Order: sequence, then structure tokens, then C-alpha cells
Amino acid sequence: MVLDALVKIKNEIDPTLTFRRSCREGICGSCAMNIDGMNWLACTRFLSETADPATIYPLNNLPVIKDLVPDLTHLYAQYHSVEPWLQTTTPDPDCERTQSPRDRQKLEGYYECILCFCCTSGCPSHWWNGDRFLGPAALLQAWRWLADSRDESTGKRLDELEDPFRLYRCHTILNCTRTCPKGLNPGKAIAEIKNLIIQRNG
Ligand code: SF4
Ligand code: SF4
Ligand code: FES
Repeated sequence: MVLDALVKIKNEIDPTLTFRRSCREGICGSCAMNIDGMNWLACTRFLSETADPATIYPLNNLPVIKDLVPDLTHLYAQYHSVEPWLQTTTPDPDCERTQSPRDRQKLEGYYECILCFCCTSGCPSHWWNGDRFLGPAALLQAWRWLADSRDESTGKRLDELEDPFRLYRCHTILNCTRTCPKGLNPGKAIAEIKNLIIQRNG
């Protein structure tokens, strides 16, 4: 994998080479970088699939801390702004809040996001308006909680999202969906949010 090559370079050629990694299993999202012009996880990209020579850059359109390490502070702040946790107003039940298999099914394709930010880094709308447009990763997470049958903050969540910049700067270019290394579809999640707002405003 590309990550193995980077580890070998760091161990044997240049110990100053700096990059993030943790799981080397495509599950922590740490090793996202731009490989041959496409954002991907270094630990899941086969060396045999890269160009010769391969070109490796940090995720694009983000401040670089060092080498292949981008500064994700702003993207995490945007993620935090969608309040990605279960919110309820009804009294707590005696045991956990349950969910039918059919309702659980609605989270498929969204709960698997590993917050690697390959999508947001590759989104042209986020390049130009990243200060106010939330970008595909944060919006996919926003939909993950809107789609959760146990969550009781739908109205408040939609109020926060219904904004010409935060949500509607997405122009359905779908770079995000093309680049997601987990095969998720942030563009569809964004369309679902827009549909829910249309239904609400009916
Ligand atoms: S579909 Fe929307 S969020 Fe995804 S890359 Fe295009 S503009 Fe960005
Ligand atoms: S939607 Fe895909 S590309 Fe975007 S942060 Fe989640 S896992 Fe990464
Ligand atoms: S090291 Fe965890 S996703 Fe690559």
C-alpha cells in the first residue's frame, strides 16, 4: 500500500517525513491524502495502482501543518456545528431508545463515514466558500442524525441548515461522491436534506 511506502521512506530515507496514520485498515481516516490527483486513503491504495512515479500531496485546499499533514481545525469545527449526537426531548425510557430494523436501515450508507475529509477537500464549492459552506462531510453527518428515527431535533436541525451558504452552496457537482474511499454518497445525503426542507415548507 502507499502507506507502507511512506513508512519505508520515513524509516530508511528521511525520518523527517511527516504524515498521519493509525489503523492502516481504512477505518480511522487519518491517512487521507492526494494520490495521483485524487483524494484517497494511503492505507487502502495499492502501490500497483499508482502512477510511476506516483505524486503524493496533502489533501488539497487546506492549510498544511507539515508535509502530508493538513490542518483540520476548521473542518472539525464545521462537523461540530451540526451537533452530531442524538438529541431528545421526551423523557428517557427505562432501557435504551430502540429502533426498528427498518428505521436502522435508513442509516446505512451514512453511519459508516470515517471523517477522512477526502470529500470536503475535493469539493469546488468548499474551495470557494469553505468559510460558510459546511461541505459534504459535515452535511452527510447532519443527514445521518436527521435520518435517525430516535432523534427529536429535526426542526431545529433543519432551521440551522436552511441557509444559502451552509447548505445551498452545494451545486451537485458530485466530486464528493466520486472521491469517497468508503463508497458513500454525500451528494445524496445533501439532496435528502434539501428534500426534507422542501417537504417541511410544503
Ligand atoms: S455535490 Fe455538493 S458537496 Fe459534493 S462536491 Fe459537489 S458541490 Fe461539493
Ligand atoms: S463521506 Fe466519505 S470521503 Fe467524506 S469524510 Fe466521510 S468517509 Fe471521508
Ligand atoms: S491509517 Fe487509518 S484509514 Fe488509513
